[in-house]
Amino acid sequence: MTTIANLREFEALARARLSPAAYAYYAGGSWDELTLRDNEAAFARHRLLPRVLVDVAKVDPTTSVLGQPVALPVGFAPAASQGLAHGEAEVIPARVAANRGLVYCLSTFSNRALEDVAAVGRGVRWFQLYVQKDRGRSEDMVRRAATAGYSAILLTVDLPTAGYREREIREPLAEGGSLPNIGSADSYRGSNVALIDESLSWTDLPWLRGLSNLPIVIKGILDPADAARAVEHGATGIIVSNHGGRQLDRAPASIDALDRVVDAVAGRAEVYLDGGVRRGTDIVTALALGARAVFIGRPYLYALAAAGEAGILRCVEILEAELRTAMKLLGAPTVAGLTRDRVLG
Ligand SMILES: Cc1cc2nc3c(=O)[nH]c(=O)nc-3n(C[C@H](O)[C@H](O)[C@H](O)COP(=O)(O)O)c2cc1C
Repeated sequence: MTTIANLREFEALARARLSPAAYAYYAGGSWDELTLRDNEAAFARHRLLPRVLVDVAKVDPTTSVLGQPVALPVGFAPAASQGLAHGEAEVIPARVAANRGLVYCLSTFSNRALEDVAAVGRGVRWFQLYVQKDRGRSEDMVRRAATAGYSAILLTVDLPTAGYREREIREPLAEGGSLPNIGSADSYRGSNVALIDESLSWTDLPWLRGLSNLPIVIKGILDPADAARAVEHGATGIIVSNHGGRQLDRAPASIDALDRVVDAVAGRAEVYLDGGVRRGTDIVTALALGARAVFIGRPYLYALAAAGEAGILRCVEILEAELRTAMKLLGAPTVAGLTRDRVLG
């Protein structure tokens, strides 16, 4: 693992170990995969303006999310069916996240039960909710998550139905593993999405808020007006996300949508970002444009498939090393120093 120098290198290693269908499921985007590619390309279009002669002898990449301290402004995004990558599935990245002080977001469609994942030990964990057509199941999951010590409900709102994903048509997944959070054994992945309530709307937010005392973070917002609306409906956090280019193709890259959302939210909630984050320089760009923290998706899935726990640890080690170096060279030794004027354009 020590010869792996950056997050992109995990993909080829993972591909060699995953079945073609599992790789297609992890890697794919929707339609022409324009948004998938643009998530990374848009980061590459941003330029960083270094400030010199700043004392960077000590660099502090710690921050907090929703009032809880984290070691790095990077967490693991929710991703379904991690059993495709490793027998222990979600437990491994959740354990690494807990040990390293990072946020772990557990998907509704995880292969390990939310209680098993919570059993890895103390850590900042958010439960990602896809509201089910069977509202009773959703209510049950939220209550279980609260009991098991999850500290937020992460409501994903950009998947009333799955995007048109051609790789999954060509290489269909026969089996996505059991879905213990929703109490269904051995479901086919293709049918998971059919469980999601397409009628979910803003009017359901009071219902969700009433299910627990947990803060609500809304994931999958790109439109600043939606961001403002989310805040008005009680969201304490927003994840600017296009679901890793898996939903509406031609939606903007996350980093291109960020600053308008930050302006619309105007400090009333924390704003996070996912999609295309691969480098420490990506992290500083997002933070400078107003994100409180960022999340990674595919890189840790690939690291898990490539080398299990050692892979995930290496993934975190690389991101931390890159982030510390980028902060030093930018002349911003704390996350508070990552201000908008560090990004050109
Ligand atoms: C294989 C896979 C499964 C995913 N499953 C979920 C999920 O269950 N819930 C969810 O909110 N987002 C899900 N996502 C989206 C991620 O949370 C995240 O938005 C995206 O992966 C970030 O982009 P990146 O992969 O470029 O880092 C999934 C993404 C992938 C690649």
